[in-house]
Parts: sequence; C-alpha cells; structure tokens
Amino acid sequence: MTTDPTRITLRRPDDWHVHLRDGDMLAAVAPYTARQFARAIVMPNLDPPVTNVAAALAYRDRILAALPAGADFTPLMTCYLTDEAEPRVLADGFECGAFAAAKLYPAHATTNSAYGVTAIRNIHPALEEMERIGMPLLIHGEVTDPEVDIFDREKAFIDRIFSGLVRDFPGLKTVFEHITTAEAADFVTASGPNLAATITPHHLAINRNAMFAGGIRPHAYCLPVAKREAHRLAVRRAATSGSPQFFLGTDSAPHAVARKEAACGCAGIFSAPFAIESYARTFEEEGALDRLEAFASENGPHFYGLPLNEGSITLERAEVEVPESLSAGGSSLVPFHAGETLGWRLVGGAAEI
Ligand code: NCD
Ligand code: ZN
Repeated sequence: MTTDPTRITLRRPDDWHVHLRDGDMLAAVAPYTARQFARAIVMPNLDPPVTNVAAALAYRDRILAALPAGADFTPLMTCYLTDEAEPRVLADGFECGAFAAAKLYPAHATTNSAYGVTAIRNIHPALEEMERIGMPLLIHGEVTDPEVDIFDREKAFIDRIFSGLVRDFPGLKTVFEHITTAEAADFVTASGPNLAATITPHHLAINRNAMFAGGIRPHAYCLPVAKREAHRLAVRRAATSGSPQFFLGTDSAPHAVARKEAACGCAGIFSAPFAIESYARTFEEEGALDRLEAFASENGPHFYGLPLNEGSITLERAEVEVPESLSAGGSSLVPFHAGETLGWRLVGGAAEI
C-alpha cells in the first residue's frame, strides 16, 4: 500500500457483506460493487431465500450475467439457515465451492428474515458440522424480542445468545456482522481469532441522530440501527485498530426510493456506490490511512482462508459530489452520502458508470 497526500493505492479490496438483490435491481446495483471489489459475500435473503446449492448456483449465474462486460468480480455465495438446515446440504455446498459461508438471521430480525432461525438449538446439528469442516457462520446479531429496546438488541443478543454460542462452538469460525456497539467490538476482541466482525461505512460515519436530523430521515435507517455517538466512536476505534478481527462489509442494502420513503419504510442503506471513498474518509479522519489496506483487503481473506487479491485500486484526492439519487431499473435509489462532497475519488470509479 502506498499513500501520499494526493493518492492512495491499495491491494484490491473485497466486500464481506452485501445485498445484490435480483432482477432489475441486481442489474442496477451489481456494477457499483464490482467496480471497487474483487469479491463479495452475497447475502442470501431473497424471497424465497437461498437455502440450497441449486439456488445458490442459479443466483451466482444471474449475478455474473448482470455484470458489465469485462468486469473482474467473483460473487461468494451464502446459504440462508432455517430451522430445517441440513448439515449434509451445508457440507456438500461448502465442499463443492457453492457456499462460502452460511447466514443466520434470527426469524423476523430484518428484511426477508421470516424464514430465519427461531431458536439456536434448532441448528445445533448444522453448527456442529460447520465447526467440523471449517465453514464460516455469519450472524445478524440482534434479538427480535419486541420487549427489548431497539437500541439494545445487539447487546441483548450477545448476552442471551452469542456468548453461549462461542462457548459451545469454540472452533466455529464466526462473523458478527455489521457491528454497531462498543459491547460488540469488545466481545469480538475478547473472544479470540475464531470470531471476527464486519463494519459498514455508515456505522462508522453516522450516529442515531442522523435518522432524526430536522425530520425523519428514512435513508439513514438500516438494521441494526445506528447507535449513540459513543458507540460510533468505539466502532471506529475497532475498525482502525489494526486488529485482524475487523474487516470491511458494506451491508449495502438497496431499496427503491418509494419503499424507503413510506409510512413503514424498509431498513437498508445503499452504501455500495461510494463505499471505498467513505471508508477512506473515516480512516483519514482517524489518522489511520496506513491501516485501510489491512481492513479492506487482507483481514477478510485471512479469516476466510482465501488468497489475497492480486490487483490494486487507486484513490485520488478530489472533491466528489455524491448524487441525490441514482436511477435503477425504472425506479431510483438514494445512495449513502447523497448530496455530500467526499474527498477521495476511485480512479475509474462511479463517475464513469
Ligand atoms: C438488509 C436488507 O435490506 O436486506 N437491511 C439492512 O438494513 N441492513 C437486511 C440486513 O442485513 O439486516
Ligand atoms: Zn445485511
């Protein structure tokens, strides 16, 4: 990695958590991910969800078909865990390369999670098998108990579920997805190298005030919701700490504007278009640009046991105005940072899409 006051060149990064959707939306959003990232862990929360090898391979083909000509991008597919998850299906899919990991959504925690897991003991046989074969488990770490305050649901998940899971499956490679709290960062650090966490650009950049700045702001709403400022600062410290347990995962989750700006709007922030520029801003503000490459391009592959990417990307210092909206297959999407000016531009980046 090289940095000077005007340019950053780093090994090509990967996105370890993204929602690429399907159909027209897939065609609209996949190029934003592929122009920055060499690989991405693709979330399986389609409707119906991706729960078997055939569905994962068919989805992978649709993603590849949606990429611009000449794109060099590898989707890494995931299996959506249900109460009926079969150890054999997971093992076969992992061993043939169809699944890079399996995703645990607590039932009803977030978008398309109705088929999710209702009690962790229901998937103990699946987890035993995953631990045995080294297949990573990715967790949306929030309880769904409506009695628990929404800002406390990540912490409650650690206390009620995650700490027991780490104790019962010490050899299971597990990713605590999109962490938002000091408690989550501390829990990951304390649990040792089989537990890692992804961190989004938005949870590094905004706190919960962003959802209520001068009125209700649906484009700042995602799950887990942004927390108070002290948590944002703790998550920034974790991301920029240099610890190999923290790595990049955008959780880019596009929803058409009409589904966001509604009486009951969808959760999700479309962070893909300017993701690497957003991370670069955070790392620069923290005086940690020299640690961006490990976070973006090294820690994830090391955790997953995959090779590092060969190519590189370059960011140059420039004023980049983020559009208020982007067209997407007949509707429009509001990108994260809409209307703001960012200080870095990916060479060969969004302006050319
Ligand atoms: C995601 C989505 O829309 O699929 N939404 C979100 O707010 N992050 C689901 C998820 O990852 O929770
Ligand atoms: Zn997600």
